[in-house]
Amino acid sequence: MKTLFTNIKELLQVRETSIDKVSGKEMATLPIIKDAFLLVENDIIIDFGSMDVCPKIENASIIDATGKVILPTWIDSHTHIVYAGNRIQEFVDRINGLSYEEIFNRGGGILNSAKKLNEASEDEIYEQSKIRLEEVMQQGTGAVEIKSGYGLTVEGELKMLRVIKRLKENYTLPIKATFLGAHAFPSEYKDNHAAYIDLIINEMLPKIAEENLADYIDAFLETGYFSVEETIKIMKAGKKYGLIPKIHVNQFTAIEGIKACVENGALSVDHLEIVNDEDIEVLKNSNTMPVALPSCSYFISIPYTPARKMMNAGLPIALATDYNPGTTPSGNMNFVVATACIKMKMTPEEAINAATINGAYAMGISNTHGSITKGKKANIIITKPITTYYQLPYEFGSNLIEKVMINGKLIS
Ligand code: NIG
Ligand code: FE
Repeated sequence: MKTLFTNIKELLQVRETSIDKVSGKEMATLPIIKDAFLLVENDIIIDFGSMDVCPKIENASIIDATGKVILPTWIDSHTHIVYAGNRIQEFVDRINGLSYEEIFNRGGGILNSAKKLNEASEDEIYEQSKIRLEEVMQQGTGAVEIKSGYGLTVEGELKMLRVIKRLKENYTLPIKATFLGAHAFPSEYKDNHAAYIDLIINEMLPKIAEENLADYIDAFLETGYFSVEETIKIMKAGKKYGLIPKIHVNQFTAIEGIKACVENGALSVDHLEIVNDEDIEVLKNSNTMPVALPSCSYFISIPYTPARKMMNAGLPIALATDYNPGTTPSGNMNFVVATACIKMKMTPEEAINAATINGAYAMGISNTHGSITKGKKANIIITKPITTYYQLPYEFGSNLIEKVMINGKLIS
């Protein structure tokens, strides 16, 4: 089965050979073909180029994309979309003056979501989560990483990871599962961190490995949550089971956490709202992808990741949503890209690179996703007729996506 897209106004992120990420100055370049064709066979991109050399294909279904832009789907490398209920009351409490930290310190925040998660059945959580997954697919997300971390009990964490496994089985987009048992200390372990870490390492991890439920391991490395030393223990334990670290770090404070993550081979370090020069130095010459989450900065009014400073230092940046009930109840990557342009002063080219190829790197799938490259998966966004791709971040509140193709199939 072949599908030929013709007369594409702008075909974005075309890469002749597979690259795994773009860094520093390279991020300013987004390779484009104007007046292009794109040929898909089954679930694979097999050809593209200028309309001048568009092949005649027998038995292909032809989609005329006159006036429209085609680009690879967004890759959302950091989400918590599996959760139960919501935290609407905390949202209102914050409007009325409480901070995220104050809410956590009185037993809300992550512990509030953990209570709801442990009270809900696996089926209930699956039904709630699949609605969110289907919504983000409509919004152009073609691959998603999903974390546990609202269980904080052996059963709760396994329940979350089993829901992620069911989503993997029932949807065709790539899903990676990350074990985040080290998201917060449950209140009963407040004064006995060692016992909770022992539970993670000696009870949760072996069971997760036995059922093959996780691809990555995460921890909330932050003042008041997991210390550098505690996070190192978790990363090392995860690695024994083949789980590579992807770590929440530098959201509120810089405490040399990034250094520990890089030294332990983290695939990504995520949040980075507060970054100092030493952190940037450490990230240079590493293989660790810095991931910015601008919707989180927006929603809880904290600084934005200093993307310009980091790119000037030669670093790559990926963009993701952080979709979760507390700090980012939105999985809309279009809003992330627009906010990166508007608030972080990333150019549209930089933001699109960050949300596609660099996101794919941060999820460990850049050999198959993240660019329009022959042999990669046919995961693409087809826009409505627009003047130029700049319109995507410019009209930040509009839905400019007409169709989304995942694994060669148009979803509706
Ligand atoms: O990425 N910072 C840690 N974890 C989540 C939020 C967790 C929550 O408040 O539920 C985040 O922002
Ligand atoms: Fe997060």
